[in-house]
Amino acid sequence: MTRFAKYSLLALLATWLIAASAYAQENVQGRNWSGACTGCHGTEGRSQGAIPAIAGIDKAKFVELMTAFREGKQSATIMHQHAKGLSDEQIDALGDYFASRQPQ
Ligand code: HEC
Repeated sequence: MTRFAKYSLLALLATWLIAASAYAQENVQGRNWSGACTGCHGTEGRSQGAIPAIAGIDKAKFVELMTAFREGKQSATIMHQHAKGLSDEQIDALGDYFASRQPQ
């Protein structure tokens, strides 16, 4: 292997590691924030009861619903209160988190 090829390989590995750790960080944030949701929506969003399960939800649909709850445009009994305090960034991270959970 030429020296150039070795350096390219190392650079590729470094890029991959940085990307992988950034991705993991984002998921940790989503998981932390999801603690405010899983009491009602079940472990990782797999609700067993009357409250809708959100594990594996389509992310675009999640963002749309949460934004509509936050702005009071989607009818709800309880979700207006839960969505009100969330920033776009939090909704995005929560969307990544719940969309990546295995539905039941
Ligand atoms: C106190 C219980 C409770 C908590 C806590 C809660 N939810 Fe909900 N959620 C509900 C209920 C009940 C509904 C049905 C709509 C309504 O009546 O408000 C719902 C609906 C939803 C929906 C729409 C699902 C669908 O398919 O229509 C989403 C998405 C959602 N919640 C996300 C969240 C997220 C994210 C959090 C945490 C930030 C959260 N919820 C916290 C009770 C809760």
